[in-house]
Amino acid sequence: MEKDVIILGIESSCDDTSAAVIRNGVLLSNVTANQSVHEAYGGVVPELASRAHQQNVVPVVDQALKRAGVERSELSAVAFTRGPGLMGSLLVGVSFAKGLARSLGIPMIDINHLQGHVLAHFIKEAGSEDRQPQYPFLCLLVSGGNSQIIRVNAYNDMQVLGQTIDDAAGEAIDKCSKVMGLGYPGGPIIDRLARQGNPTAYTFAKPHIEGYDYSFSGLKTSFLYSLRDWLKEDPEFIEHHKEDLAASLEFTIVDILMDKLRKAVKDAGIKEVAVAGGVSANNGLRNAFREHAVKYGWNIFIPKFSYTTDNAAMIAITGYFKYLDGDFCSIDLPAYSRVTLK
Ligand code: KG4
Repeated sequence: MEKDVIILGIESSCDDTSAAVIRNGVLLSNVTANQSVHEAYGGVVPELASRAHQQNVVPVVDQALKRAGVERSELSAVAFTRGPGLMGSLLVGVSFAKGLARSLGIPMIDINHLQGHVLAHFIKEAGSEDRQPQYPFLCLLVSGGNSQIIRVNAYNDMQVLGQTIDDAAGEAIDKCSKVMGLGYPGGPIIDRLARQGNPTAYTFAKPHIEGYDYSFSGLKTSFLYSLRDWLKEDPEFIEHHKEDLAASLEFTIVDILMDKLRKAVKDAGIKEVAVAGGVSANNGLRNAFREHAVKYGWNIFIPKFSYTTDNAAMIAITGYFKYLDGDFCSIDLPAYSRVTLK
């Protein structure tokens, strides 16, 4: 009988400490500790994030193994996020993974966080519907740090067709939400408010960029300046119109994202289309995908909410694919804060 392949995945690139266990490609557990400490600062404070990772990593890994019913001695390999991300945060996960793998005498597998987000579509849960994209497919990767259109030819062959030349979509949402005095992170708050607002109440500047690239800094400035003018006339403007502001902002961002994606789908002639990353939790964006599926015959893939934001299940599944290919790394491999998809 073939030996089970059991992968422990560890994710610590930003402010979520997460560990997951996958057996033969099927998810057994996925445990995440979020860090509320950043809320008071309106953004992630790197030093505080690494300290929290240090506190969380051991209990989170223990919990993931316990929930999976797996002993350390049964693990085949440890997969970990190598980058991109915050260096101090990455170092906690990378060092822990190296130490654990070395102590158990098993291989270690380095994972590109962005590749992990894309491959979240291959996370299989026991008993759930097994619907996965076929290669090649296009993936819109939208998070706090990235906005990219990626052509995915294979799990280890991804080509970035377009990306933001300034802010990421999530970053723009978070910054506009901060200007409105809403909490952090702004994405889920804007999403909730937008459900009760009118998406065409206000219009904001849209970028005119060649090809498949994105830009969100102009929109951010346009939002800021408009708000400043409206506040001069009515100091309570935000309070009175926050739902319409959120809905109009969300509508504009989703429109910008879908515009370029539609163009990429048409030019590539690929109708297998996925969305990934933290912003893919956004209801407006998810609905836009569903509408495009109906209108343009796209075969769409929208991740479960739990696999949109940072999680170790996506790291473990990517690790599983690399394990099957014998693609391991050495102990002297450094973490990297900046890296693109190959
Ligand atoms: O992928 P992610 O967890 O972290 C990285 O950036 O790697 O993405 C976080 C981003 C934040 O900007 C957050 O505001 C945004 O995803 N986000 C959302 C929603 N949930 C999270 N944006 C819009 N609507 C949401 N429901």
